[in-house]
Amino acid sequence: MRRAVPWLIALVGVATDTSQCPYNDPLPSVCTAFADVVLVVDASTSIAHAHDNITAVMRAYVDSYWLDEVQGARMAIVQYSVSATVLSRLAANRSALLESIERRGPSENSTCISCGLEAAGEILRTGNRTGAAPLLVLISDGVQVIKGGPGKARDVAAGLKERGIVITTNSLGEDIAATMEAIASSPSSTFANDLTTVFQLLSIIPETVSSSCTQVFFACWLSGYCDEPLSVIVHGRGLVNSTDLLCRIGGIVGSASLIDNATLVCNSSAPGLETLSNGALSVDVQVAARYSRAQTPRTPPTTAATFARS
Ligand SMILES: *[C@@H]1O[C@H](CO)[C@@H](O)[C@H](O)[C@H]1NC(C)=O
Ligand SMILES: *[C@@H]1O[C@H](CO)[C@@H](O)[C@H](O)[C@H]1NC(C)=O
Ligand SMILES: *[C@@H]1O[C@H](CO)[C@@H](O)[C@H](O)[C@H]1NC(C)=O
Ligand SMILES: *[C@@H]1O[C@H](CO)[C@@H](O)[C@H](O)[C@H]1NC(C)=O
Ligand SMILES: *[C@@H]1O[C@H](CO)[C@@H](O)[C@H](O)[C@H]1NC(C)=O
Ligand SMILES: *[C@@H]1O[C@H](CO)[C@@H](O)[C@H](O)[C@H]1NC(C)=O
Ligand SMILES: *[C@@H]1O[C@H](CO)[C@@H](O)[C@H](O)[C@H]1NC(C)=O
Repeated sequence: MRRAVPWLIALVGVATDTSQCPYNDPLPSVCTAFADVVLVVDASTSIAHAHDNITAVMRAYVDSYWLDEVQGARMAIVQYSVSATVLSRLAANRSALLESIERRGPSENSTCISCGLEAAGEILRTGNRTGAAPLLVLISDGVQVIKGGPGKARDVAAGLKERGIVITTNSLGEDIAATMEAIASSPSSTFANDLTTVFQLLSIIPETVSSSCTQVFFACWLSGYCDEPLSVIVHGRGLVNSTDLLCRIGGIVGSASLIDNATLVCNSSAPGLETLSNGALSVDVQVAARYSRAQTPRTPPTTAATFARS
């Protein structure tokens, strides 16, 4: 009789028992995703008193990503007031980015958020890399009253989100919070930050960069039988959008469900370990139409049987 048990790699007592699949490595402190990031910053007179602190925020954003032309992030920087000024196009050169921030001009009257968003959209349209996640971070302390007002800002943002751009907003002031929530990607509980001070903004940067940084780091077996769908646990970050999640285990597409904001269960749709080549197993997780690949599963869980074929 052909038995499934010899293929048991981890017991499936509780399908979502992640303790069988521990991941204790600390996450990299910076986002190491393949991403093209545009930072869009308010430079209107209302924020002029905080010019130096906003400059510090911009520097902190540059240092929140692993910048690398080939595999990591590139960043572009735009500031806006009555119009938009591109301080830097997409670049992975940290010193050049920091220089462009130091050189930035003083604040001017008016707040044209839509101008900043349009400039960012153009940068991502003309300069993006194939497969890189397009991310936009917006900072504003005031409502757009010129050039179409808040409605225009929302419309431009809607167009960018339709193109797959993930928008994180940071609003400094209550009167702008509702518009910024509409501009942000969904869910706004993750992507729209309502803040009161620039200092507060500085303190939440690591957390908010992490939530838009979609990466998977580690996959491990939950179950593997000859004749039952494979189940794998994946640890990562930025896995916020459960509606978009999809997994490929060894190339076979299956379903995925979110356990918490850093953990997924992936099932292959085609049953059985025999459908996979022995040993090596790659797990891809798709979020927002892009795949991110987990490292090859490492040491099997302690409850594992041997890998021997029956
Ligand atoms: C700038 O940040 C410092 C702390 O780093 C704080 O004391 C100061 O009040 C801030 N200024 C403004 C205008 O936010
Ligand atoms: C990075 O930028 C700095 C400052 O602009 C420049 O001196 C340096 O040559 C650049 N490095 C590369 C690899 O382009
Ligand atoms: C903003 O300043 C420019 C000149 O720098 C001026 O032409 C314009 O009228 C000002 N706009 C407002 C709304 O104050
Ligand atoms: C990235 O560039 C390609 C063409 O180079 C374009 O089709 C795509 O829409 C761009 N992505 C975004 C988010 O603009
Ligand atoms: C998350 O999914 C919802 C529904 O499909 C979509 O409206 C939203 O734009 C997605 N958010 C991101 C960041 O992709
Ligand atoms: C993920 O969840 C943990 C608690 O489960 C929370 O502390 C953390 O802030 C969350 N991260 C994001 C990006 O939502
Ligand atoms: C994956 O498979 C397990 C065990 O068969 C099941 O409990 C779980 O609901 C499945 N998850 C998904 C997302 O299909």
